[in-house]
This record gives sequence, structure tokens and C-alpha cells, in this order.
Amino acid sequence: MVLPSAILLPLYLYPSVTTDPWKPLYDSLTAHPNTQFDIVINPDSGPLLVGPSDSALSDYVVAVSKLRTYPNVNIFGYVHTGWGAASLQPALLSNISRYATWNTYTPANISLDGIFIDEAPNAYDPTIYTNLQTATNLARSSELPKIILNPGTVADAEYFALADYIIMFEGAYANFNASEMAALSQAVRANSSVILYDSTLAEADQNTLVNQLVDLGLGSLDVTTTNTYDTWSALWTAFTQQVSSAVGVT
Ligand SMILES: *[C@@H]1O[C@H](CO)[C@@H](O)[C@H](O)[C@H]1NC(C)=O
Ligand SMILES: *[C@@H]1O[C@H](CO)[C@@H](O)[C@H](O)[C@H]1NC(C)=O
Ligand SMILES: *[C@@H]1O[C@H](CO)[C@@H](O)[C@H](O)[C@H]1NC(C)=O
Ligand SMILES: *[C@@H]1O[C@H](CO)[C@@H](O)[C@H](O)[C@H]1NC(C)=O
Repeated sequence: MVLPSAILLPLYLYPSVTTDPWKPLYDSLTAHPNTQFDIVINPDSGPLLVGPSDSALSDYVVAVSKLRTYPNVNIFGYVHTGWGAASLQPALLSNISRYATWNTYTPANISLDGIFIDEAPNAYDPTIYTNLQTATNLARSSELPKIILNPGTVADAEYFALADYIIMFEGAYANFNASEMAALSQAVRANSSVILYDSTLAEADQNTLVNQLVDLGLGSLDVTTTNTYDTWSALWTAFTQQVSSAVGVT
């Protein structure tokens, strides 16, 4: 079964309890309860080298436990592989294990659904594949079953065995070639994601693009006017409405 496209949001914005900068997200989750939101949190290019009871994570505990109350979210913890660098493998594994401790933290429900693996390889290489498989097996056996890989470019088919979604394009809107996605088989597109940043599209043109991406049957998507993941797109609210309408919910 092909699921409707989800909204993918790399949310690297620090969730200060005093300013509550995740509020636009909470508002969208309420406004679009039948739209799936896949949210990537990123305390420190990783989980921070502390457990969730450490005060350094207290703002995250508050914000993630609030996010957890919305049924239409999947929450992913950020890690990176340096494009499959063997030297990063120990840290990659220990960071996954560290996120797994969030799922057993009892003072608040800050459980995560999975892991977002940034700087993932795109070209198949047996050694890199085996290392990545070790990492995704660890995540799955640690109750972090959902996996997103981010090579940011079209990945070789082998990697789909390791991931729910692979980000097949991450780049400026100006450099996006929708035909590259259309050229993928429908089955591959269902597990493919795109992140288009630096969009200069007006709201109506963004809507046309969103409809095109949803019609392609992509697994998830993000279109943002910014070029960082720690500020809101000027068209965030419109984007969440556009995806919701395009997938046929409100
Ligand atoms: C692991 O997490 C630490 C702390 O957040 C971060 O500094 C480091 O870059 C991460 N390494 C990997 C490979 O994810
Ligand atoms: C935490 O929230 C998730 C999502 O709502 C839920 O599946 C899980 O059972 C909760 N965990 C606990 C310990 O309540
Ligand atoms: C591909 O996406 C579908 C949902 O559309 C999901 O059920 C399936 O598990 C995914 N396949 C892989 C290999 O992750
Ligand atoms: C866009 O992608 C298609 C399909 O891969 C390719 O044939 C075409 O040359 C690309 N266009 C540009 C401008 O790169």
C-alpha cells in the first residue's frame, strides 16, 4: 500500500522553553490532524553526549514531550555518517544507542520513532553498506524502527533495503529537476523524499509544485523559503495546508 506523502521537517531550531519557537509546528499539527509529519530533531549534530536527565537537554525534554502528544508525528533523531566514513562508525553507533535511552526515560514521554542518518552514501559500496546496515539494525533493535537516509541525491537501489525513506534530492529549489524524480519507478518514489530549500516561489506557485510532488507519489517532502533548518519558511503555514489539500485531507 502506498501511503500519502508526508511532510518532512528538519527542525534544527533550539526549542527554548521561554520563546517556544516550535509553536508554528504545534499549530500545524493541530490544524492538519490527518497529515503525517516526520520531524527531525537535532540537539547538537547528534544527541548531545549526555542523557535526557541532564539539564543540557531539559528544553528538549519539554518540547519533545509536547510533540509526542500529537498522534500525527514521527520523531527522528539526527546522526550523520560523513558519507559512510568508517572513522565515524563508533560515534554513529553510540549516538543511536544514546537516542534509544530517550525511549526508556520515565519522567516524560520523549520517545523517538527512528533515526535520521545525514550525509548518507548514495553510491553502493559493500563496506559502507555493511556499516550502515549495522547502524540501522542497531536502531531497529533499539525500538527506533523508522529510518531516513539522507544522501541528498539519487541513491542506488540497494540502500532502500535499509531505509523507510531516502532523501533523493536536498538542495536549492533552483537546482531541482522534477524529471529526475519522475524517472524513478513508482515503488521507489513511494520511499523517496525531497527537500527543496531557498525557494523563491510565490504561494500559488509553491502550491503547484507541492501538487506536482504529491502527484509523483513521493514518500515525503519539504519546501522552504529559507536555507537553514533553524528558521521557519515564510510559507510554512501555507505549505502544510498545500500538502494536506494535495493528499486529500484538510
Ligand atoms: C554524535 O553526537 C555528538 C553529540 O551530539 C556529535 O557531536 C557527533 O558529531 C555525533 N556523531 C555522529 C557520527 O553522529
Ligand atoms: C509515548 O508516546 C508514544 C506516542 O504517542 C506512545 O506510542 C508510547 O506508548 C508512549 N510511551 C509511554 C511510555 O507512555
Ligand atoms: C516503502 O514505503 C511504504 C509506504 O508507502 C512502506 O510500507 C514500506 O515499508 C517502505 N519500504 C521500505 C523498503 O521501507
Ligand atoms: C532532468 O532530468 C532528466 C531525467 O533524468 C534529464 O533527462 C534532463 O537532462 C535533466 N535536465 C536538466 C536540465 O538537467
